[in-house]
Amino acid sequence: MAGEADEEPQAPRRGVGSSGESSPESSNETSWDVAFELPGGIRRLRCGEGEYLWWAAAREGIALPSICLQGRCLECAGRLLHGRVDQSSADSYFPEDEAAGFVLLCRARPRSSLRIRTHQAAEMRAHRLAHGLPAPYA
Ligand code: FES
Repeated sequence: MAGEADEEPQAPRRGVGSSGESSPESSNETSWDVAFELPGGIRRLRCGEGEYLWWAAAREGIALPSICLQGRCLECAGRLLHGRVDQSSADSYFPEDEAAGFVLLCRARPRSSLRIRTHQAAEMRAHRLAHGLPAPYA
């Protein structure tokens, strides 16, 4: 019987054919399993490929930090521990950020299953300053 295991599946799922369970994504969209390491513990959710991670968290009642919601202020920063994201719609995101594993959750869309440590604004601002890059609110 195909039940939900506690482990992190590596394969994407499609929303089509889900039997009555509420689906975070539009019916045709691939979605991915996401584990957030929050200060209070780990929360898991599903996020569609077209959905930003910050909003997927909000939908599940997880209040992540934010100021701009445009990928500029760094307030929503997280650290990518596993997986890949599309950060192309962030207003301000540098190759150095990606190399260091920082992600801006308000403008990050999943491209694989993910594990992300949240609440990394101070760390990302320090990283930006160390590399001579913009660090709003630092
Ligand atoms: S809330 Fe400003 S970068 Fe995400």
